[in-house]
Amino acid sequence: MEGKVKIKPAEGKLGVMCVGLGGVASTLIVGTLMARKGLANPIGSFTQMGKMRVGRGKEKRYLHVADIIPIADLNDIVFGAWDIFTDNAYESALYCQVLKKEDIEPVREELESIKPMKACYDPFFADNLLNPSFGRIPEPLWAMEPDTRWNWAQNLREDIRRFKKENNCSRVIVFWIASTEYYIPRNEAVHGSLAGFEAAMKADDRKNLPPSMIYAYAALQEGCPFIMGAPNLCVDIPAMFELSQQKGLPIIGKDFKSGQTMMKSALAPTFRTRLLGVEGWFSTNILGNRDGQVTDNPMNFETKRISKSSPVEWILEEEEYPELYSDIYHKVKINYYPPRKDNKESWDNIDIFGWMNYPMQIKVNFLCRDSILAAPICLDLLLFSDVALRAGLSGVQHWLSFYVKKPMTYDGERPVHDLFQQFAMLKNKIRELGGYEADQELD
Ligand SMILES: NC(=O)c1ccc[n+]([C@@H]2O[C@H](COP(=O)([O-])OP(=O)(O)OC[C@H]3O[C@@H](n4cnc5c(N)ncnc54)[C@H](O)[C@@H]3O)[C@@H](O)[C@H]2O)c1
Repeated sequence: MEGKVKIKPAEGKLGVMCVGLGGVASTLIVGTLMARKGLANPIGSFTQMGKMRVGRGKEKRYLHVADIIPIADLNDIVFGAWDIFTDNAYESALYCQVLKKEDIEPVREELESIKPMKACYDPFFADNLLNPSFGRIPEPLWAMEPDTRWNWAQNLREDIRRFKKENNCSRVIVFWIASTEYYIPRNEAVHGSLAGFEAAMKADDRKNLPPSMIYAYAALQEGCPFIMGAPNLCVDIPAMFELSQQKGLPIIGKDFKSGQTMMKSALAPTFRTRLLGVEGWFSTNILGNRDGQVTDNPMNFETKRISKSSPVEWILEEEEYPELYSDIYHKVKINYYPPRKDNKESWDNIDIFGWMNYPMQIKVNFLCRDSILAAPICLDLLLFSDVALRAGLSGVQHWLSFYVKKPMTYDGERPVHDLFQQFAMLKNKIRELGGYEADQELD
């Protein structure tokens, strides 16, 4: 179909360079390799399974997403990675214990060939990875030699160019699926403009430039879209907005909306729609994977807490309904609890009130699998960001808010957190890109 927006065809290999080869990355890779062999179902992935309506009235049809816009074929994906552990993708998948060995073994050879490159790593931003009291530490530490932020960026650019050439890729996406970094606030002098950012890199301002920003900078300079899967500040700053627009590249973030927050962004709109009040929302989790280990540091958790809190704060607006949503007591906790590994358990207690202020309670107990929920989100994000690249969409990709806990916006804009509004935004963008009319979503 000839669309209004010209999208280049998905020709050639699509390189996906994962920053971090841990639980989520290895689960994404195993599932993708298994799906392309026809050995597993890509459940949860809209690009692989989703159907949606286009046209109205007599023109109405239900089509697969890939029949509306040109999505890259799974067979064309080539994975690469950086990590501070030397484990290849097979070893990492076994270590993380998300998947059973029998579900990993059929793609063992391909997984073994995915060996991480040396990471751009500063222990300050994820120090629990080196803390032996949590168990295994990286030996040797598979990281670039200490150097200036500017030089690290040049090394990463070289890695990207080499990977692209060696794998004969027509395009590459760089995807942060690495740890949640130590909390840093925005610093206008460093993050407020590209000139300030580059000056800070050259001056080696380590405090304001965590590794994730260096990967993002290198990716954009090399013509690659960048996806931020953790809650890190990273591309959520004017300097990166400027660079991505200057280079005509999409940036996406931040923090996958996989388990508890997905439920929140579905439940909160229900209360709002029915004009039910909320007095308190207590959310807690137990999690025993390496991500739980890193966020056990209070300042790494702070980055996560802000992201996990934002849907309730934005959907249940005090200003609009002060009698329903004033002073909501909203508490979010993650407790590191190794026996559960990646099988996170979350509890939500929601104190709501109705007619004549009579109180009620809702309890949600979600026994989920963190990486099993995150992997299809990753696959969709990387395939849609490739579509965005080929369609020439640059800067913040609001239409992909559906997949993230804290959708990025330009300064002064309102993020959309409601899961169903986000889904409508996603489908309307797909319609627009496919040459169909956007509509009110009354299917
Ligand atoms: N699983 C989910 O549902 C979910 C949801 C939202 C966000 N996330 C985020 O996704 C990220 C990955 O989660 P995970 O469970 O795979 O964690 P993980 O700890 O298993 O994997 C992260 C990997 O990143 C590596 N790493 C850390 N710093 C690095 C650097 N500077 N360069 C290269 N590699 C580096 C670590 O060594 C580790 O192997 C985390 O930030 C997590 O918060 C996960």
